[in-house]
Amino acid sequence: MSNYLSSLFSLEGKTALVAGGAGAIGSVISEAFAKAGATVIVHDLSQERLDLVENHFNKEGLKFTGIQADLSTREATLSLAEQASKVTGKIDILVNLQGANRRKPISEVTDEDFDLITSVNFKSVYFLSQAVYPIMKKQGGGSILHFSSLSANVSFDTISVYAATKAAVTSLTRSQAHEWADDNISVNAIEPGFVQTEFTRPLWDDDYRAEWFANYIPMARLAVPEDLVTTALYLVAPSTNYVTGQNLVIDGGVMTGNSWVEKPRRKGIER
Ligand SMILES: NC(=O)c1ccc[n+]([C@@H]2O[C@H](COP(=O)([O-])OP(=O)(O)OC[C@H]3O[C@@H](n4cnc5c(N)ncnc54)[C@H](O)[C@@H]3O)[C@@H](O)[C@H]2O)c1
Repeated sequence: MSNYLSSLFSLEGKTALVAGGAGAIGSVISEAFAKAGATVIVHDLSQERLDLVENHFNKEGLKFTGIQADLSTREATLSLAEQASKVTGKIDILVNLQGANRRKPISEVTDEDFDLITSVNFKSVYFLSQAVYPIMKKQGGGSILHFSSLSANVSFDTISVYAATKAAVTSLTRSQAHEWADDNISVNAIEPGFVQTEFTRPLWDDDYRAEWFANYIPMARLAVPEDLVTTALYLVAPSTNYVTGQNLVIDGGVMTGNSWVEKPRRKGIER
């Protein structure tokens, strides 16, 4: 890559806290940020997933720092921000990827389902950002990237609570971008469409849905985590600090509409 291009995307000297960073998308983002020069602090609920990412970082010759925590309480988010800020003395980038879902019809959702999904997908995002804010403000700025979802805009059966939490994250992106602009903090979100991961396996791993996806997604395939990397780098790079309050949909064209021209039905996606 030319020096010019790499300087635009360089995270050299930056410290990034990647929450949910050992998940399917998070592990790919964490690795990309480390390869772009950042000191990456990988957080996850699962120690097993953190160990897998640590092994991978070691093989790639990347420095690994992991922190395990359940972020469903405000205290836990404060503690994570405090621990992370001690690694290099600052946090320049925060990415919120932690997420949970229990797919059920609205009539079957329990109190416990509701509290679990909202606490991981929205409350932890809200309070982890709040905990990191004074650190970024004191050091003169930073960037925050949330992982919302296509379902913030369009919903599907059995994900009513999840979709509402993602719409809340999309809204929070605008509120934070506005309130924190004069602290030189940019806040943006990526809204992925359907990404082929373990998280979504129950959605795509049967013949009916494989065919449904192939015909519903204009690009006729699900995304892979790598499809999101360049946009994530773009949104946290210091060179794009003026981009703020944006929710960028990466969905293979789903939000563009639907086809009403008669053509052969596609058979399915690759599984
Ligand atoms: N995969 C998709 O199709 C898709 C689509 C749109 C949006 N997203 C969003 O992208 C993000 C990453 O998704 P993914 O596919 O990598 O899923 P994933 O399940 O692989 O990653 C999510 C991570 O969050 C962690 N987590 C769960 N509960 C937690 C808790 N209580 N405290 C702290 N961490 C917790 C998990 O351990 C996991 O590693 C999520 O926010 C998800 O909602 C995913």
